Amino acid sequence: MNTQELISTAQKLIADDKGLLAMDESNPTCNKRFAKLGIPQTEEARRAYRELIVTTPDLAQCISGAILYDETIHQKKIDGTPLIKMIIDAGIIPGIKVDAGAKDMAGHPGEKITEGLDGLHERLLGYYDMGARFAKWRALIAIGDRIPSRACIEANAQTLARYAALCQEAGLVPVVEPEVLMDGGHTLERCSEVTEEVLQTVFNQLYIQGVMLEGIILKPNMVLQGLTCPLQKEVSEVSAGEQNYQVRLIDRQQEDVSEVDKGADATVKCLLRSVPAAVPGIAFLSGGQSAELASSRLNAMNVRFKSRIPWALSFSFARAIHQPALEIWQGKESNVLAAQQALYHRAMCNRAARRGEYNASMEMTTSSRKQGTNDLH
Ligand code: 13P
Repeated sequence: MNTQELISTAQKLIADDKGLLAMDESNPTCNKRFAKLGIPQTEEARRAYRELIVTTPDLAQCISGAILYDETIHQKKIDGTPLIKMIIDAGIIPGIKVDAGAKDMAGHPGEKITEGLDGLHERLLGYYDMGARFAKWRALIAIGDRIPSRACIEANAQTLARYAALCQEAGLVPVVEPEVLMDGGHTLERCSEVTEEVLQTVFNQLYIQGVMLEGIILKPNMVLQGLTCPLQKEVSEVSAGEQNYQVRLIDRQQEDVSEVDKGADATVKCLLRSVPAAVPGIAFLSGGQSAELASSRLNAMNVRFKSRIPWALSFSFARAIHQPALEIWQGKESNVLAAQQALYHRAMCNRAARRGEYNASMEMTTSSRKQGTNDLH
């Protein structure tokens, strides 16, 4: 194991307040997102979208590493240049999703186990030769009636640890992603309890498998209430008269601010209890939050705790970074520039959030900028 190379890659991934861009959706997931927007679900459309992302000007100002899917790492720009070369030339470290997806877990209805260990050693060596320097493996933990089970948590934790050990042996930094899902009506407290149990188990397994913690990145969920938790209220639900609406809206905004701070406190408290200080960086997934909320929550954690925590708190978002760009693109060449501007903007907001300098006025700038861009097309 080349310890120095792994430590150096991990440090570069969290340096300069930059973060990771996850563009590694599997073909079925990518197709599902395309279908919702009426974009053709073809290999060429996926290639064109990934080209749009990697050719976004100045992306490397905010992005240190990009996680690719196997199809993408083999794809080329329309002029024949490999996409991975575009990424490396831009000064971004290429990474690769190496799990084979989450499958139903035998004997455990409603739970999943991630597969992909068979032949992984050889695949990792191949990706290293292509230029990848880090990898990703995602385990899914659902919260529900009597789940997650110990069996599910332990099986996924051990698999994550075996993947991480194989990555380090092949010279790739493992991004270790145990995702506690936001789906369901659970409370913030329940999410905290489950996330802590999952992280404790994962780090125990990483220890057992001999993984060098200085050469990994942890990619966890933020501690949040479930998407359908009754406490979750929407501004759009407010139907009273205009004056009343304004009052409720202000209340709601204040509520949002305190909800964001509450989530930030719960997340950092949970991480402090379960993540060893030797880990250099924690790069959150967005998990279905809106892009703005993901930035606000990352920002709140850095504002409140940055000077008191041992690891960098960063981002490794997919939807919260490029979903707005996808919605603008809609598969049309004429929308590429506007989509790239939206992508760059989100990357920049998240870099600001790493510094604790993100605020809502940055979003207002976008709407005016978007308006200006649309005028050009
Ligand atoms: P989201 O940020 O959309 O949750 O995706 C992150 C990711 O890489 C999932 O594996």
